[in-house]
Amino acid sequence: MIRPFSFSDLDLILQIENQSFPKSPYDWATFLNLSTLYPETFLVYTSTSEVSKRLEIWGYIIFSKEGHIISIAVHPQHRRKGIGTQLLQRVIKEPSLKKAWAEVRRSNQGAQAFYFKMGFQIMGVVPNYYGNEDALIIQWTPVPQETY
Ligand SMILES: CC(C)(COP(=O)(O)OP(=O)(O)OC[C@H]1O[C@@H](n2cnc3c(N)ncnc32)[C@H](O)[C@@H]1OP(=O)(O)O)[C@@H](O)C(=O)NCCC(=O)NCCS
Repeated sequence: MIRPFSFSDLDLILQIENQSFPKSPYDWATFLNLSTLYPETFLVYTSTSEVSKRLEIWGYIIFSKEGHIISIAVHPQHRRKGIGTQLLQRVIKEPSLKKAWAEVRRSNQGAQAFYFKMGFQIMGVVPNYYGNEDALIIQWTPVPQETY
């Protein structure tokens, strides 16, 4: 299930974050700030663990209504199950959206492959965006509908 972030999700989100972005994880205060800035578009993917039988957080996405993807991550144990795709579809399925875009580390080939599969393309490069590493700016635009 995908639902809006709530404060009680924070501990599990931080676990995913630290494993997903070991070089530059967001901290507690940053997530709280983002939840205030994007209350409707900070979403979490929840599922019940077959082992613990508890409801767990397996992934999250934060984006602006203009289409800027601020962050997306899926727990390493639950990758390649389509969860990232479901989260990203929440952005690009918005009918009025004109574009969606994200910054990705040049070395993050897994994320690039993920975005390319979803139809994103590289639009530019920001040198040293991450201090010592470039960001690729990747962008998606809707396929124009044929008119008759
Ligand atoms: C990028 C990320 C969110 C993808 O989440 P996910 O749930 O594993 O993605 P999906 O299962 O929906 O993948 C859809 C498709 O994307 C491609 N893909 C996803 N991860 C990939 C990888 N590591 N290498 C190559 N292709 C990949 C595949 O084509 C995949 O389809 P397939 O599994 O049928 O081959 C996840 O790998 C992650 O959290 N990475 C660490 C955080 C990160 O880099 N976030 C992006 C920062 S900009």
